[in-house]
Amino acid sequence: MTVSSSPSPLAGRRILITGAGSGIGKATAQLFTARAARVALVDNNLQAVTAVGDELKMPIFGCDVSNPDQVERMIPEAATALQGIDGIVNAAGIFMGGAIEDLRVHDWHRVMNINLLGPFLICRQALPALRQAASATIVNIGSIAGLQPAHGVAAYASSKAGLFMLSKCMAFEFGPTIRVNTVCPGAIETPMIQNGLTEDARARLQAANASKRLGRPEEIAEAILYLSSPASSYVNGATLVVDGGYSWR
Ligand SMILES: NC(=O)c1ccc[n+]([C@@H]2O[C@H](COP(=O)([O-])OP(=O)(O)OC[C@H]3O[C@@H](n4cnc5c(N)ncnc54)[C@H](O)[C@@H]3O)[C@@H](O)[C@H]2O)c1
Repeated sequence: MTVSSSPSPLAGRRILITGAGSGIGKATAQLFTARAARVALVDNNLQAVTAVGDELKMPIFGCDVSNPDQVERMIPEAATALQGIDGIVNAAGIFMGGAIEDLRVHDWHRVMNINLLGPFLICRQALPALRQAASATIVNIGSIAGLQPAHGVAAYASSKAGLFMLSKCMAFEFGPTIRVNTVCPGAIETPMIQNGLTEDARARLQAANASKRLGRPEEIAEAILYLSSPASSYVNGATLVVDGGYSWR
């Protein structure tokens, strides 16, 4: 076996990251640029993504991933800015809680459109560019919520379960030069979870976790890096759970 002495497996790779204005997407953009990748930063929060773009000196794109017209316009612009696309990280997403009997149809559509339709639109639109790359990667950010049932998360969990299957279907249809994998985080310290978490809920989550703490966005970014790099060249259609040992308890 030969061991590569390359300084960074991501050097020169051109990666489009959605949800890059905050949390996991932002941490991924920071890690990837630190590892010499070039990234296109996509988010519908223009203020947030502008700040990340200024910090990393990378191109930004204000885009609602659930809007087909906006995605159709944005992808060619991002491909031009990066001079091609070698990879996608679909991290844009929203959380929505609520018992099934209380869920409004509008809210159901909203979470499905952002969490499931969004990655579909992004990947479909980027497919011609990805096919031009010698070896391309897609990493979709699912959730352990999509792998096991729980009370009060039906809409969110269903969107993530759908993303899990969409990833596998894409792996079949897009292979062999495009690999598609899913990272399923547990509870991670980002605005998504920090905004709604009571101290009691936090204590319960920590107690039920083998690592006895919530995760950090940087720890998810490392898993995304692995699946975006040649180090994972034979990992395809897989689901990598990164939850500190919560979901198997
Ligand atoms: N934080 C967690 O505990 C956790 C756990 C499991 C899975 N996830 C998933 O990880 C991903 C990232 O979440 P996060 O925790 O970093 O949340 P976050 O709220 O910190 O970041 C999400 C980003 O997505 C952007 N976004 C939302 N809707 C968008 C849209 N329609 N178009 C474009 N951008 C949009 C937001 O503006 C924000 O910048 C999400 O898919 C989420 O479901 C998070």
